Amino acid sequence: MPVDVAAEIISNRALSDDYNVLGLAAPAIAATAQPGQFVMVKVGARLDPLLRRPFSVFEVLRGPDGTPTGITILSKRIGPSTAIVYNARPGQVAAVLGPLGRPFTIVDAPSDAWMVAGGVGLAPFAALAEALHQREVNTTLFYGARRADELFYLEYFRGIGVELVLTTEDGSAGERGRIVAPLDARLASRNAALPVMIYACGPEGMLAATAKTAAKYSRPCQVSVERIMGCGMGGCYSCVIPMRGDDGIFHHVRSCIAGPVLAADQIRWD
Ligand SMILES: Cc1cc2nc3c(=O)[nH]c(=O)nc-3n(C[C@H](O)[C@H](O)[C@H](O)COP(=O)(O)OP(=O)(O)OC[C@H]3O[C@@H](n4cnc5c(N)ncnc54)[C@H](O)[C@@H]3O)c2cc1C
Ligand code: FES
Repeated sequence: MPVDVAAEIISNRALSDDYNVLGLAAPAIAATAQPGQFVMVKVGARLDPLLRRPFSVFEVLRGPDGTPTGITILSKRIGPSTAIVYNARPGQVAAVLGPLGRPFTIVDAPSDAWMVAGGVGLAPFAALAEALHQREVNTTLFYGARRADELFYLEYFRGIGVELVLTTEDGSAGERGRIVAPLDARLASRNAALPVMIYACGPEGMLAATAKTAAKYSRPCQVSVERIMGCGMGGCYSCVIPMRGDDGIFHHVRSCIAGPVLAADQIRWD
């Protein structure tokens, strides 16, 4: 059940000129959040921007005895709300509603898990990697960014045994180019009898390319879509996406309640 809390900002760590990680004291949300779920956030009491914005739950924070105490969000500054998130100060209060949406379905060994992240699409994968680590699932992160200095949390992922495959558009780290290229190459060389679940989050063009690549090798793929969301709870229809229904016909579904995690092969990518 989502809850609406006034959460104190307990930390704000700038990762670059555009990216930051905001820590929020929200034990009730942290206690039930599952990897892939999101929260609707508004920092401060200003009227403009009026609406909260959606952010994936990046990490669940815990006290010394393991009790969930809060969450973090990884934010990329692209407009007014994310600028406020970037500049937020510890001690300020944020309105936080969540956890919302359908989470990832987490595989068990012997399946491997391959997470595919583009830019800020990394956001749902820290929590997912943690859950996969607990299940002892072999996990790989395919992570693409524009430049080396926009690849974040690499040590965190390495520290929980995640294999990293990196690409940058300028070639400053990993392979030069887009992240779907090494994904395709790995799938091409993988024994078809060895199961793998693909998880993807990032710009919609990247999600479409990942979905196509997964389908080419008949591999299951879950994508976390990022449509514009006004309410996050099914009330405004700002977030619809065409999905194939059981009748084989495409219907617009509200990605905030049917998703944000959806089966890639059910989405019409146009
Ligand atoms: C389920 C979900 C989870 C998300 N998780 C994260 C996250 O963890 N970290 C993060 O940084 N961002 C995340 N986003 C995107 C984030 O919500 C937007 O970047 C934010 O709403 C922008 O708000 P703004 O006021 O700064 O900019 P706005 O002025 O609202 O937007 C700036 C520009 O970006 C476009 N835009 C806004 N939202 C989106 C979107 N969802 N997709 C594509 N274009 C968009 C607008 O049309 C506009 O052109 C998520 C979105 C969804 C739907
Ligand atoms: S965001 Fe309002 S219906 Fe989905």
